[in-house]
Amino acid sequence: MSDTQKTATLSFDGKTIELPMYSPTAGPDVIDIRKLYAQGNVFTYDPGFTSTAACDSTITYIDGGKGELLHRGYPIDQLAEKSHYLEVCYLLLYGELPSAEQLEDFETRVTRHTMLHEQMMNFFRGFRRDAHPMAVMVGVVGAMSAFYHDSTDISDPWQREVASIRLIAKMPTIAAMAYKYTIGQPFVYPRNDCDYASNFLRMCFAVPAEEYEVNPILARAMDRIFTLHADHEQNASTSTVRLASSSGANPFACIAAGVACLWGPAHGGANQACLEMLREIGTVDRIPEFIARAKDKNDPFRLMGFGHRVYKNFDPRAKVMKQSADEVLDLLGIENNPVLQVAKELEAAALADPYFAEKKLFPNVDFYSGIILEAMGFPTSMFTPIFALSRTVGWVSQWKEMIADPSMKIGRPRQLYKGETLRDYTDIENR
Ligand code: SDX
Repeated sequence: MSDTQKTATLSFDGKTIELPMYSPTAGPDVIDIRKLYAQGNVFTYDPGFTSTAACDSTITYIDGGKGELLHRGYPIDQLAEKSHYLEVCYLLLYGELPSAEQLEDFETRVTRHTMLHEQMMNFFRGFRRDAHPMAVMVGVVGAMSAFYHDSTDISDPWQREVASIRLIAKMPTIAAMAYKYTIGQPFVYPRNDCDYASNFLRMCFAVPAEEYEVNPILARAMDRIFTLHADHEQNASTSTVRLASSSGANPFACIAAGVACLWGPAHGGANQACLEMLREIGTVDRIPEFIARAKDKNDPFRLMGFGHRVYKNFDPRAKVMKQSADEVLDLLGIENNPVLQVAKELEAAALADPYFAEKKLFPNVDFYSGIILEAMGFPTSMFTPIFALSRTVGWVSQWKEMIADPSMKIGRPRQLYKGETLRDYTDIENR
């Protein structure tokens, strides 16, 4: 916590309360209200936490007005262009870019944890084949706490480190197995001679009946998608992981909670919802109809892939994702993909419309990711599992940061109660 330089004065009901303020290294100052209830017998009220800093962190910073995203100070567009996912994982976990030796050691440790306990395969077979892969991931990730007992004690830094590596290493294996299970194909085991992204593509698309060659351009695009989704401050799923972890629950259970939260269409489920929306629009001439629906207050329809709680400018990840979409579709010779054409025309139409400009609704990370993933051969049901495996390093990094904070306490928000006040039980004959 930075030193207290300023105070905020709050006056109400004849009381005046001085609240300390802290200045961050970037972003708005904060008012420390921890003593407000004790001193003023009032709560603050902020459903959705639009004006609330729930913690202090050194991992990721977003400037929503500028459309800036920094991981340990490095801008996302530089990391997407010059780095790769496992190096970004190292940066998020340990705070600095690794030396060549540190990176090699980290990549080796992750590679050697990619296999899943053989008995966990039984979990997959307990699901219906038509189960959504996110339902499988929530179940299997949570079940890791039933198999990896030697890395569940959060008071042991070494066990926290092992759990972190296991989660980052095994999520692609779990996601790929969830996919294989739904299409009735045999599981493909990870290989130690493959890089992280290539391994995932192999585990998803290889079959035992023939050799499988990973296309390096697709592997690069896959790795970039992982990097663009790695962490994003205190978003809903990260906040879920932090709140679950504050009770002392084991890391696997807490990450499973994050997977569950990410699934929602307002959050990580938006990439699937966005592609389904683009398909429903179908042709460029139907775009005005959907733009009108998105603006109609009486219509619950929203443009999936647009808008963001924090970004009131372009989501910098969407910019990089758009470049990747063009590269992948050019490579695959489907630059005339009708869905991509609708996406580009929809983006142009929305950005030219005063409604979206006034409400600062720009394409977010989910707007283009689905187009790339579909072009790579993934079904829409796999879009959010890919987001979940990418975000695991963010959840884990934020979890490690919180658990290591000696001032950590269990999260326990209060409420503005609007229910019945005290009343006596009424016997049924008198109701
Ligand atoms: C992710 O938090 C993160 O960091 C998340 C994420 C991450 O990396 O973890 O970035 C990933 O979740 C990206 C967002 C993916 N979701 C979608 O694309 C779903 C569509 N977007 C909307 O549901 C919405 O924009 C949210 C949920 C993303 C943001 O919601 P807010 O900030 O709470 O905005 P709001 O609901 O208060 O809307 C503000 C206004 C409203 O109009 P008014 O009531 O003021 O008249 O903008 C309108 C909304 O109706 N609006 C939209 C819109 N999003 C907001 N109108 C049409 N289409 C939209 N997409």
